[in-house]
Amino acid sequence: MPSATPSTSSARPRILSGMQPTSDSLHLGNYLGALVNWVELQNEFDAYYFVADLHALTVPTDPAVLRRRTRITAAQFIAGGVDPEQSAVFTQSHLHEHAALGWVMSCLTAFGEASRMTQFKDKTAKGQNANVGLFTYPMLMAADILMYDAAYVPVGEDQRQHLEITRDLAIRFNQRFGETLVVPEPYILKQGAKIMDLTDPTAKMSGSTSPEKGLILLSDEPNRIVKKIKSAVTDTDSEVRYDPESKPGVSNLLVIHSVLSGTAIADLEKSFEGQGYGALKSEVAEVVVTAVQPFQKRMAELLDDPAELDRILAAGAERAHEIASRTVGRVYDALGLLPATARFGR
Ligand code: TRP
Repeated sequence: MPSATPSTSSARPRILSGMQPTSDSLHLGNYLGALVNWVELQNEFDAYYFVADLHALTVPTDPAVLRRRTRITAAQFIAGGVDPEQSAVFTQSHLHEHAALGWVMSCLTAFGEASRMTQFKDKTAKGQNANVGLFTYPMLMAADILMYDAAYVPVGEDQRQHLEITRDLAIRFNQRFGETLVVPEPYILKQGAKIMDLTDPTAKMSGSTSPEKGLILLSDEPNRIVKKIKSAVTDTDSEVRYDPESKPGVSNLLVIHSVLSGTAIADLEKSFEGQGYGALKSEVAEVVVTAVQPFQKRMAELLDDPAELDRILAAGAERAHEIASRTVGRVYDALGLLPATARFGR
């Protein structure tokens, strides 16, 4: 029998977040903007982190590429510091419950409401040939979140509207069918360290819009990192000073250094006094290379042993399934769908 109440019994509040397997490597912006926070939060919360492979199907995907990127994305969570012993690390498609609850959420959403989602509007305005899955993307995301009775959902600012519709859907469900779902709080990650494109430091470092030379990929070879940082756009002045308005390139390099080395920006400004951008760039490159090396080593180990990675994902899915099956049971029951036991005559 499904339990009547949400499973909020564990001592620490639950959090959940996901990433789509849409690239062969995270870049420094994703890493510092999201993954570092996931790692910090796992101590304080009962954390569930997953690869949103079903969401990746909303754009045309090559099966071999999807398979590779799903493993890479999971491995990056772990190489970045997510501890699979502590946090549940899993793949969305391993739990059929996500698609099932996603359908329920779609049936709860008004057509006009879905039409107002900005991400869908932006993508289709840019001429992207959209499928219906892209339209219902937010409902599947709502299902991901509500499935785990998550108290908080750590995501970036770009996901705020998705969290709002998730809350609306949970409240609506509870009003129509009785208290069933936990209404989550957004946990918008502070953009404390916003990392900019190396070739255009007025734009965010972005996997979808930055050129390859503008991105520092966590998988980049050390000499490639050095090359990219050496050719980073700065300005015609030569003073190493933090001033994002008039010196966005130099400021971006200072931010990268500061976040990775833990040195205050003011101290960096002092230590580079009288030195040009060449010195700054060399040191930033060194700091970045030192930071990515252990990550790359762990990545290589994980990708060299796909059986071990699959075992980790299976263990994560098992943990996730305990909660997911109860939630779907509760939701189906509240909706008036007959228990499956009746169907099988048990
Ligand atoms: N939409 C998120 C992104 O593109 C990924 C995602 C899917 C997600 N389901 C989620 C994030 C549930 C948090 C919670 O980044």
